[in-house]
Amino acid sequence: MRGLFQTLDPMRILSGIQPSGSPHIGNYFGMMEPAIRLQEEGEAFYFIADYHSLTSIHSGEELRENVRNLAIDFLACGLDPEKATFWRQSDVPEVTELTWILSCVTPMGLLERCVSYKDKIAQGISPSHGLFAYPVLQAADILIFDSNLVPVGKDQKQHLEVTRDVAQKFNDRYGEDLLVIPEPRIREETAVVPGLDGQKMSKSYDNSILLFEETEKKLRKKIMKIVTDSTPVEDPKDPEGSYLIQLYSLVASSDEVKKMEACFRAGGQGYGHYKQQVFEKLRDHFAPMREKREKLAADTDYVDGVLEDGAKRAGEKAREVLDRVRSAVGM
Ligand code: ADP
Ligand code: TRP
Repeated sequence: MRGLFQTLDPMRILSGIQPSGSPHIGNYFGMMEPAIRLQEEGEAFYFIADYHSLTSIHSGEELRENVRNLAIDFLACGLDPEKATFWRQSDVPEVTELTWILSCVTPMGLLERCVSYKDKIAQGISPSHGLFAYPVLQAADILIFDSNLVPVGKDQKQHLEVTRDVAQKFNDRYGEDLLVIPEPRIREETAVVPGLDGQKMSKSYDNSILLFEETEKKLRKKIMKIVTDSTPVEDPKDPEGSYLIQLYSLVASSDEVKKMEACFRAGGQGYGHYKQQVFEKLRDHFAPMREKREKLAADTDYVDGVLEDGAKRAGEKAREVLDRVRSAVGM
């Protein structure tokens, strides 16, 4: 069996992120930080999903720039190329061949049920076949590396279910155990990071706090925009369901969170006071990464080299699985 913990091989952890703009702290706590932690626990494979971004980015220059910036961001946050294989999706084009083969075992109904297609159209992305078939490309991304574990935010849960279904359908048709059935890893505490307005933080909702805001002033200005109720300064405030506290708890210790909750209940301070605390904590939390980011941005040869080297390693593994699949389907 090739399932989780069923082989003697190390556990393979895989995840991808689209280069669709500067990452926000929802991307960081939902996907990047868990992925970075997991690089200590198995064989980590992380990539920048540029094929996926063709659904929304239509300028070659912009795509190239976003890929490079995202690589810098991820490395600055602690992705360690000595531990994790890190590459740009389109540098391993084998994945598109597997996508086609998997398309032929994917029932239409499975894709029709995916909410992300409708959500993305509602956000203004044009309806294309690529956007509709996107979960099959994602399944290929995962299955072509015999991945066991996929750390993602909650909004990717359905895509992981599709991946598991497609792998099962393939195995039913061509042979048990040909493809590994992966497990999602969704951390409950950070499953959905709220945005400034309390909705899910997202690039498309104009409610995000970027991982690396251009200036401290911009960061502070954003934090001051977090939606709160109109409880007067001196009155007690309800910490339950407060977005401010939810954001604070991403970066503060549990004692610090308890203290803020107690101050909320006691009253006597306005929300501006708490926002200042959230601002300072966030600024300090990301300060070392910001510093590292500046160094990496000045050494793009190094960054490009990391991706090139990662593509070589990822390509070897992808070939191995693709050969297995091609042979199974009769090629
Ligand atoms: P966006 O919604 O901003 O376009 P993406 O869809 O590109 O973000 O998501 C990239 C990764 O970040 C995915 O694994 C996703 O689950 C995670 N993610 C995005 N937004 C959040 C959020 N608000 N909270 C937790 N995880 C998130
Ligand atoms: N669809 C994911 C997103 O929008 C990105 C992604 C592409 C991905 N392929 C993947 C995530 C494979 C995990 C595994 O965030």
